[in-house]
Amino acid sequence: MNLKDLYINFFISKGHKQIPSAPVVPENDPSVLFNTAGMQPLIPYLLGENHPYGTRLCDYQKCIRTTDLDVVGDSTHQTFFEMLGNWSLGDYFKDESIAWSFEFLTEVLNIPINKLAVTVYAGNDVIPFDAESYNKWKSLGILEGHIAKTIDDNFWSVGEKGPCGTDTEIFYWRSDEEIPEIFDPEDNHWVEIWNNVFMEYYKDKDGSVTELPKKNVDTGMGVERTVSILEGVDDNYKSSIWIDVINIIEQLANKPYKGNEKSMRIIADHIRTAVFISADNALIKPSNTDQGYILRRLIRRAIRHARTLNIDINSDWECEIAKLIINKYRNYYQELGDNENIVLEVLKTEKEKFNKTLEKGLKEFEKVTINNENINGEDAFHLYDTYGFPLELTIELAMEKNLKVDEDGFKKRFIKHQELSRTASSGKFKGGLAGNGEIETRYHTATHLLNAALKVVVGECVHQKGSNITSERMRFDFSCDHKLSDEEKLKCEELVNSWINAGLDVVVEEMSKTDALETGAECMFVERYPDIVTVYSIGDISKELCGGPHVKNTKELGTFKIQKEEASSAGVRRIKAVLVDNE
Ligand code: ALA
Repeated sequence: MNLKDLYINFFISKGHKQIPSAPVVPENDPSVLFNTAGMQPLIPYLLGENHPYGTRLCDYQKCIRTTDLDVVGDSTHQTFFEMLGNWSLGDYFKDESIAWSFEFLTEVLNIPINKLAVTVYAGNDVIPFDAESYNKWKSLGILEGHIAKTIDDNFWSVGEKGPCGTDTEIFYWRSDEEIPEIFDPEDNHWVEIWNNVFMEYYKDKDGSVTELPKKNVDTGMGVERTVSILEGVDDNYKSSIWIDVINIIEQLANKPYKGNEKSMRIIADHIRTAVFISADNALIKPSNTDQGYILRRLIRRAIRHARTLNIDINSDWECEIAKLIINKYRNYYQELGDNENIVLEVLKTEKEKFNKTLEKGLKEFEKVTINNENINGEDAFHLYDTYGFPLELTIELAMEKNLKVDEDGFKKRFIKHQELSRTASSGKFKGGLAGNGEIETRYHTATHLLNAALKVVVGECVHQKGSNITSERMRFDFSCDHKLSDEEKLKCEELVNSWINAGLDVVVEEMSKTDALETGAECMFVERYPDIVTVYSIGDISKELCGGPHVKNTKELGTFKIQKEEASSAGVRRIKAVLVDNE
């Protein structure tokens, strides 16, 4: 049995319910581009909302962290990883959490106790030393020398505000050398495998910390890292998670992994992440903003490294790798199989687009660096604008020649170019962090109204295929076989506005999924929802399975205006719309 199944079965045996992995692109949280931890989709519940599955949860969650994107290529970094997690929502706390982690590691994974070490919170002026965790580990048999008290790494939070708390981190001795009696968390032979966070506080933007109504547990264990440890390899990419992907790249390149590690790791990692992003229900396509820009960077960087390995970049190399990855994961993530063709199309189209300019762009790069001078903003922008080189790619190429790129100069030039684009000026270019508040909530309710209006105007056959909300606009994808006429668009607008003006109440109910579907509630991805669901109804015009949040009454929305209607993919249309405040 593999690690994911062992973990889930273990926590189910301890009274937990398995919840489905949330999409990598958060559905209703525009404050982040991707889910970066298992707890992220659970934030409302960690803050006190009741979870339909109860108070003990576990899952494996798809996560993407892009802060380290440019260092992928060494033996440990990856942009995508799976995180195993178990949660207590106001149920058990430190005692059980630590006992079960210990039992799983030593009795299910059979890790010898002396290979384990832990850190616990040392305490500061505000939050005391975590004696409970310390004593628990000691009572279970962790050597006293293997329990370190630290501060910096033992407080966990996500983003600038949200639930947080002290944590205890579990490390494994990954080396044939003798295990030291005293654990030094800075020694790289000790590898962190699991983090148990005791979420009892809420951190606000100003840094102030208050107590949460309930004490929760949030844990996270990295699948790739733990598997490579259990398999005793010294390079994550040599574990069973990666080895067949590396093998296919060796075949495509007709070169061994040894000596070509960096490029092969980059290709393996970036294609896998690109597969998961493009298979997600948000239907992200390569673009120059937000998630689309990350997707573009991943694919283009993988292509550049494929070229470095002399892989024929015009062949179907990327699809061969993607198909292998899809087959490896499809039993765990249904959307990979469902959207296989979309994924392959995204990769192929982006590859063809970039291949057209890559050679010329590389020549241009050689030209501007011929005198070994650093690259100015104007040249970097020219490479971006004319040859489609993401800034980061130019930086990487420059680094290989020990040169620098004037990033500020590039950004200034970029913003000038996008002067009229609010995206660039609002900081989207840096990574797309937007607020998650009242405005987004209004847009979220507006998507339900638009969905209902399309059913009236176009027909019952219209179904939602995705949505994306920022504080500035909403985007709504739906199945439809034709371009909407001006009249259809106008009718949709009028209907939505009439419902807004009618001041309809938005009502939320909890019920079983079967009941919800029987009453005709609309639902985008039936299998993603748990057995008990929340259903939002707006008057009698809309009823949808949905996690919320929504406004209480449609009056709060303002005036709805469609800005654009366009094709999204085969059989799917996309509407961009805004809500304008009424005077
Ligand atoms: N949320 C915690 C982490 O990501 C478990 O480490």
